[in-house]
Amino acid sequence: MTQQEYQSKIKRVLFTEDEIHAAVRRAGKKISRDYAEKPLLLVSILNGAFVFLADLCRAITIPCEIAFMCAKSYYNGTSSSGIVNITMDLTLDIKDYHVILVEDIIDTGRTLHDVAELLKARHPLSLKIVTLLDKPDRRIARIDADMSLFTIPDHFVIGYGLDCGEKYRNLPYIAEYEES
Ligand code: IMP
Ligand code: MG
Repeated sequence: MTQQEYQSKIKRVLFTEDEIHAAVRRAGKKISRDYAEKPLLLVSILNGAFVFLADLCRAITIPCEIAFMCAKSYYNGTSSSGIVNITMDLTLDIKDYHVILVEDIIDTGRTLHDVAELLKARHPLSLKIVTLLDKPDRRIARIDADMSLFTIPDHFVIGYGLDCGEKYRNLPYIAEYEES
């Protein structure tokens, strides 16, 4: 892919760096208030959420721990829930933590639904979901975020951790992807 081809796929900027950082700071403040004096664990599902998590955790001013997992889900087309295959699991017991699942985007919601069910079965003190982006029009699984920073229509987006074919994760802003 040439630099020109790469650039031509960035259709338009949806959220600038400044807009994202303002929203992340607000989210960090709210989490710091809501979880004061509570054992807080941020769990992020790789890879997409790594940029969001990195900024969000630095906007949180209370003690917190961070953990990662990798999950892939397989579906038979119609069912809204599938078999979630954890390719990298948490190494700590979450039962003594208030857990926040940090996601990049909720699209159909199926992956997150399955991961949330799996974590709930491990009995954390509480479980909430924070997502950078929400595409409610595409939802199939019954799951909603407790906090979502931006709600977007059904466009494919890239940047700030979100990829297309593993590229564009390093864009500092969120852009619409040129599909043509
Ligand atoms: P879901 O199980 O359909 O909600 O899938 C969510 C996952 O699909 C996200 O964690 C992303 O990795 C990916 N995804 C969904 N929509 C987009 C998008 O617009 N851009 C980039 N990745 C996306
Ligand atoms: Mg993802």
